[in-house]
Amino acid sequence: MQRLIPDPGPTTVEEQLDSYRPREMAGDERPFVAMNFAVTVDGRATIGGVSGPIGSEADTAMLAGLRTRFDAVMIGAGTMRAERYGSLPGERLMVIVSGSLELPWDAALFTEGAGRVLVFTSSDVKPPATATSLEVVRHDGAVDLTAALRHLHEEHGVRALLSEGGPRLHTEMQALGLVDELFLTTSPKLAGGAAPRILEGELPEVEPLELAWLLEEDGELFARYRRAR
Ligand SMILES: NC(=O)c1ccc[n+]([C@@H]2O[C@H](COP(=O)([O-])OP(=O)(O)OC[C@H]3O[C@@H](n4cnc5c(N)ncnc54)[C@H](OP(=O)(O)O)[C@@H]3O)[C@@H](O)[C@H]2O)c1
Repeated sequence: MQRLIPDPGPTTVEEQLDSYRPREMAGDERPFVAMNFAVTVDGRATIGGVSGPIGSEADTAMLAGLRTRFDAVMIGAGTMRAERYGSLPGERLMVIVSGSLELPWDAALFTEGAGRVLVFTSSDVKPPATATSLEVVRHDGAVDLTAALRHLHEEHGVRALLSEGGPRLHTEMQALGLVDELFLTTSPKLAGGAAPRILEGELPEVEPLELAWLLEEDGELFARYRRAR
């Protein structure tokens, strides 16, 4: 792997993430929040309805490495339904945002009994019993994401939160100014056709970003952006 920006030269996922300490960047009100996405060169965030065919093994290694730097991982229900997550390494908290509470309860995340899951929902439906420890926090109408992040910070000591999408959750979080950084892998592939991008829906304002680093391996680009204001 090569680091192109800043300070060009050879690097590895481990070396690159070694000095990345998102917990130290947390404010008083909410966790520091980074988003992670992988896209094709033509901007697709899914191939065949999932993200797996987009990135390489280096992308998987980057995601696995990134997770170790954060206290919790958050996804929207659409991503959970498509990707059917298993448990996270360590005691990391898995956070899901769902209006409907229609989740794939037979997925390994809920049946393996490892780790902890917290679901923010606006549904009154009673979830089934799960082998994995499950906490459900209810909000009226829709999940208030600002309040949800405050809850994670205050009740669970989450100082750094990695959100792995999807596009609709990402759009809401950007619109609310809740995203500090964006990790974006661009895979050297073209797929064409219609598919979600990393944002679904227009933001209230164009969000300027700064490029914090750019890495490359086998033509795949790993960018880390941060808010420019
Ligand atoms: N390329 C990548 O890196 C990447 C990353 C992530 C996902 N993806 C892909 O993206 C697709 C999923 O996209 P998506 O946009 O539908 O998924 P999403 O953003 O993960 O989930 C959307 C769902 O989250 C819930 N939600 C979000 N905000 C809410 C709020 N404020 N209150 C209540 N519920 C809220 C709703 O759940 P309910 O429907 O339960 O009400 C909503 O339908 C999948 O195909 C996945 O593979 C790709």
